[in-house]
Amino acid sequence: MRKSIILITGVNGEIGHGLVRSLYKAGITNLIGVDLNLPDEFVQERTLDCLIGNILDQNLLERINAQYEIEAIYHMAALLSTRAEFSPVIAHEVNVDGTLKLLDLAMEQAQSRGKPVKFFFPSSIAVYGLPDLKAKTLAGALSEDDYRYPQTMYGCNKLYCESLGDYYSHYFKRLSARDSRGLVDFRAIRFPGIISAHTLPAGGTSDYVPEMIHAAARGEHYDCFVREDATIPFMTMSDAILAIEGLMAAPQEALTQTVYNIRAFNPSAGEFFVKVKEYYQKADINFVINDNRQSIIDSWPEDVNDDRAREDWGWEAIHDLDKAFSEYLIPEIRSRYEHN
Ligand code: SER
Repeated sequence: MRKSIILITGVNGEIGHGLVRSLYKAGITNLIGVDLNLPDEFVQERTLDCLIGNILDQNLLERINAQYEIEAIYHMAALLSTRAEFSPVIAHEVNVDGTLKLLDLAMEQAQSRGKPVKFFFPSSIAVYGLPDLKAKTLAGALSEDDYRYPQTMYGCNKLYCESLGDYYSHYFKRLSARDSRGLVDFRAIRFPGIISAHTLPAGGTSDYVPEMIHAAARGEHYDCFVREDATIPFMTMSDAILAIEGLMAAPQEALTQTVYNIRAFNPSAGEFFVKVKEYYQKADINFVINDNRQSIIDSWPEDVNDDRAREDWGWEAIHDLDKAFSEYLIPEIRSRYEHN
């Protein structure tokens, strides 16, 4: 008998950590992680096993397929938006070919066990692309179908993978006699920028917000690479995990779409800085604009409309900007840096 497990790719990344923390706390002890690098102790202690390797390595995926029965896949491995602009072809391979391989693994597993495999995919506000700041201001909060004209490789990858997930869920090999509809139960969230108290992002364009607060907490200088008026939506990591768990727990019949926007708050970089200053009066932050990274932020929406998520699966963020600081970031960051 193959052991029944939950697979998390990119387990050593930011959302991977958050997921492991939360699923383990909920008593889930059959997590198998995959990552390019050896995950840290926190992750190792809370998973059944961690496989070190590349999701593009067919042998690795075949080993997983042979050894385990997979109940659900959380496919978090990806190159983020800034890094992807430096290596667009590698980004495409990891973000698109990697996702295709994982979707195919999910289909094979579902066919062999005759039961659906749930598949969680983290999409992003990077799928949107607004032509200029005027259009961004006029458009306000975007709904799922608005302005899907990504300007980054990462955004293109995420948008296409949303469609791939839909294809595997609803239309896979529709010309064959075998009916595969619903075998891959694909569910995706378009995340805003995420701020974790425990980890720092690597290679994203929304990194200025988490970098600002972690630098202030460490007493380090920080050069924020976007203008003070730069505005996109953000949320805490704990709300991001709450959303993943909420969407994955929702009954399939309640879901009217496979991809959902979610939101919590959308401060400008300057407003976030003011908030950081409330807690760290000595925060030493300059605004030193990187025009290229700024132009990516300018193409992302200033807010998103998450009515569908609220209606279909009861989504609601716990943390607004004030609570994000008072109830999550400050207490957790303080204890993190005091312990280190
Ligand atoms: N936060 C990500 C990035 O900046 C977008 O999903 O790349």
